[in-house]
Amino acid sequence: MSRFAFLGAGRMASAMARGLVRSRAAAPADLACIGGAGTTSLVLAQELGVRLATSPGALLEGADVLIVACKPQVFPSLDAAYGRLAAGKLVVSVLAGTRLERLRAFFPDARSIVRAMPNTPGAIGQGITAWTSDQPLGEDDRALLAQVLGGLGDSLEVPESQLDAVTAVSGSGPGFFFEFLAAYERGAVALGLEPELARRLIRTTFVGSLALADATGEPPARLRDQVTSPGGTTRAGLDVLQGAPLDDLVAKALEAARDRARELSR
Ligand SMILES: NC(=O)c1ccc[n+]([C@@H]2O[C@H](COP(=O)([O-])OP(=O)(O)OC[C@H]3O[C@@H](n4cnc5c(N)ncnc54)[C@H](OP(=O)(O)O)[C@@H]3O)[C@@H](O)[C@H]2O)c1
Repeated sequence: MSRFAFLGAGRMASAMARGLVRSRAAAPADLACIGGAGTTSLVLAQELGVRLATSPGALLEGADVLIVACKPQVFPSLDAAYGRLAAGKLVVSVLAGTRLERLRAFFPDARSIVRAMPNTPGAIGQGITAWTSDQPLGEDDRALLAQVLGGLGDSLEVPESQLDAVTAVSGSGPGFFFEFLAAYERGAVALGLEPELARRLIRTTFVGSLALADATGEPPARLRDQVTSPGGTTRAGLDVLQGAPLDDLVAKALEAARDRARELSR
């Protein structure tokens, strides 16, 4: 009998399962998982001591929460038995672009359905997950959800109408950040710095700048002005960045990601 059943045992599922055990919200014996044709479920079972299920019935036996963490493309071909067996249970889906309405059609008798949008830093417990539910969650289900999502990092509730924008901002956000990081590193190397030195300077600068913003609570524009003197080096660089103009470029990238999220979830 396992309280938390993981349909899918990859990066996201592993982070949630490990978080449940690390925070002592559940013992490994309280968890069960099932995968597809690969080996992730075997790895999770062996490394964490999670029960490895081989059928929908075995996965959901005694479970109170079903966490759906396979790839969205796999969802349409899932065994319909999962839908029936999830009756009365809390279903938490992290499938990108899969709306509550579609989840409810598959799990018609689930107690409540949560659609969550995590991001890649969640794999190391440093992500942020936005979630929405098809009906207001009671206190107990909120507590269960906090335990499940806790392994991925921070979490917050949003209306489903905002999830496409959230997908663009925090779901795709790491991709945009890494694109900028890569360009910054290339630019630093082009100035003649050794790649190793460039990487160290840039990463410490970015992490430290974010920590400074958090510690002071100052808006980014004010912090930027504090390092910018007329005629100085930062001003010279900003003249180029602001001539791009950066705001338009970022806004367009976010709109494109939001629009694609809308299309995919239709
Ligand atoms: N990674 C992210 O940053 C991120 C962000 C937002 C949302 N998500 C969502 O999180 C979900 C999981 O992503 P991930 O990165 O954890 O993927 P992943 O590491 O590729 O894991 C996918 C899991 O699904 C399992 N699976 C495949 N076919 C299955 C089937 N028929 N029945 C049950 N399980 C099956 C795989 O098992 P095998 O190893 O046996 O094939 C594997 O354990 C996706 O829906 C994605 O949209 C991920």
